[in-house]
This record gives sequence, C-alpha cells and structure tokens, in this order.
Amino acid sequence: MLEKLYEFVENTLPPMRYKHTLGVVEVAKKLALEHNISETKAETAALLHDISKCMTISEMHNYIECDETLKYFGNLGELLHGFAGSVYAKQKLDVFDEDILNAIKYHTVGRRGMTTLEKIIYIADAIEPGRNYPSVDEIRKKATTSINHAIIFEVDRKLKYLLKIEAIIHPNTIEMRNCILEELKNLKS
Ligand SMILES: [Fe+2]
Ligand SMILES: [Fe+2]
Repeated sequence: MLEKLYEFVENTLPPMRYKHTLGVVEVAKKLALEHNISETKAETAALLHDISKCMTISEMHNYIECDETLKYFGNLGELLHGFAGSVYAKQKLDVFDEDILNAIKYHTVGRRGMTTLEKIIYIADAIEPGRNYPSVDEIRKKATTSINHAIIFEVDRKLKYLLKIEAIIHPNTIEMRNCILEELKNLKS
C-alpha cells in the first residue's frame, strides 16, 4: 500500500514538492517513534499532506467539504490544500483512517484539540530538513523535547508575520495556540 502511494505521490507532485514531502516523512517518522505512536500512520499522513498543494483553486474546491470557516478563505490555496487533500486522499486513494485524514486536513491551519499525529505532521512540515528560515533551528531544537513548545514558538512567529502583512488569520490557528497553551499550563499545575 505505502509503496504504491510513494509512486503515486512522486508522479503527482513536482520534484521540489516531492523532496519536501520526503523531508516531512523523515521528521514525522522520527517524532512518531519518539512519541510512541504508529510510524505507518505518520508516514502515510506525511506522504499525503501536500497531495493537493499543486491543484488549482477550483480543483481544490471540488474536494473541499463545506466548512463554515472556509468561506472567508476561498482563494487561499495555502490554507485550502490541506482540506482538499484529506478529501482527495479518502475519495481517490482509499485512505479511511480519520486520524490520518485529520492530520492532512489541519496541517495548514491547525485546530483545537489536535491529536499527537496531527501535531507531528503540523510541526514536521515546518521543520523538515529542506526548510530554511530564521529561527527554524530553534524550532527544531524545541521539537526534540516538546512538540507543544515547538508549535507555540512556530505559531507565534507565523502570527507576528501575518499581523505585519495585515493578513486574514484563520480562527483555527488561534484556537490551536490557545488549546496548546492550556495543555502546557495544565502540565505545570
Ligand atoms: Fe502544505
Ligand atoms: Fe508541506
């Protein structure tokens, strides 16, 4: 099953996107092992997380399930490809595991109450070896000890940037941040 998926993804994505995907697979498998969750699930979700990234916006809309929050983000492929990808994976690639599908779906915007697998795909996408931006090494370092701390650091950096360019911010991202901060506080108390 996985072998066929690799072949399909390699034939579907442009070489650079496939290289990025393999980087996400590498990090996701390592984190899955460290956090005692299924490596196969992490590998499958990582392999498919950007499967819809190179679709046109109208193609993406063919696969997006109606979601109230998405109506404000109809043209943002950067956000939509996760939502489209999860439906595509289910309809076309026979992936039925809800945890895998949600990890694909929410890797762009996050959400409240993410599973460990969802968090792993979210952060692996941001820190795979091909990523190169200021502070990526700090996020990589945090991810070795705490995925929650790594996500908070990454999302704060992202939010500062989005505020600076006056971008619309998807509410899920704020919800993800709030929820993870609550999880971290509960650990302390
Ligand atoms: Fe993506
Ligand atoms: Fe990605």
